[in-house]
Amino acid sequence: MCFSGSPDVGTTPSEKSQPKENPPHMTEHRQASEATPPVTLNDGHTIPQLGFGVFQIAPEETAAATRQALEVGYRHIDTAEMYRNERGVAEGIRQSGVPRSEVFVTSKLNNGFHRPDHARRAFEQTLAELSFDYVDLFLIHWPLPTLYGGDFVSTWEVLIEFQKDGRARSIGVSNFLAHHLDRLAAETDVVPAVNQIEIHPYFAQNELRRYDAGHGVATEAWSPIAQGRVLDDPVIGEIAQALGRTPAQVVLRWHLQRGDIVIPKSVTLSRVRENFALFDFALDDGQMSTMGTLDRNEPTGPDPDTFAYIPD
Ligand SMILES: NC(=O)c1ccc[n+]([C@@H]2O[C@H](COP(=O)([O-])OP(=O)(O)OC[C@H]3O[C@@H](n4cnc5c(N)ncnc54)[C@H](OP(=O)(O)O)[C@@H]3O)[C@@H](O)[C@H]2O)c1
Repeated sequence: MCFSGSPDVGTTPSEKSQPKENPPHMTEHRQASEATPPVTLNDGHTIPQLGFGVFQIAPEETAAATRQALEVGYRHIDTAEMYRNERGVAEGIRQSGVPRSEVFVTSKLNNGFHRPDHARRAFEQTLAELSFDYVDLFLIHWPLPTLYGGDFVSTWEVLIEFQKDGRARSIGVSNFLAHHLDRLAAETDVVPAVNQIEIHPYFAQNELRRYDAGHGVATEAWSPIAQGRVLDDPVIGEIAQALGRTPAQVVLRWHLQRGDIVIPKSVTLSRVRENFALFDFALDDGQMSTMGTLDRNEPTGPDPDTFAYIPD
């Protein structure tokens, strides 16, 4: 595999990163730090644009999946209290031998813990599960505007505390719509660094991405391949064939060229590798426009304005 990358994700790679004379495992490690372009957040911290999601990985399988992803080269792991696998993420990082400081770790506040005191306790539990003294990014997982009297602002104020005391380097939100973000802007002084939302070719979210960009919020795409649903699309198949790539690579590359942060999940080594090999090709303008025609405004997940799920 030959990876190269540049912060300008729209460009094709230079020739400088040729495979190095190292054992395969080390070669992947060496290339990793060069491979994933960083995105600079509104608080000055950087996040690798490509990360690895661990939703629906069983707690007992998460250490192995995380270690595998790190060995392939990912340096950004996306977990959540709701996934119940934070401990496995930390264990996988330790097993990989990659220093903690080189891995960007995101977790998210669980839905049952929006009240300020609950959020404080839940965050302490996250740090205990991870056995880290900080996370790189902590998000409010869902706005839950029909619960807690519609008050996600006091929850956000608690995340601001976590950032001030250094235990969360960056803070952000997930599944927030423009009117939720408007409330945070009107009622607090801190703009979220990230809004992690569902995005894939059938749900391109151009309006919300524009809102985020206009307010200095980085957009992060969850379910970026719609959990596999977009991979049989004939239009994506044609572009993949033209580029000599797989449909998943075409879709993930489309996300990167739009400038979004992207966090595909896989427990299958060949796919973990495939989803990381995105930095030695590019979609041209015509292929990007064609991908844009696939938008059907068709989410796979729930509506953030009505979603009110609280796990047991
Ligand atoms: N903030 C939120 O509310 C929220 C919601 C959902 C997800 N997320 C985050 O986003 C991450 C990614 O989303 P996701 O896990 O829902 O879906 P996804 O990444 O779009 O798709 C994952 C599914 O696609 C399969 N897959 C992965 N790569 C493939 C490839 N190259 N070819 C064919 N199939 C492939 C995986 O199978 P195998 O694993 O069997 O290989 C898995 O079934 C999550 O893990 C989580 O971190 C956040």
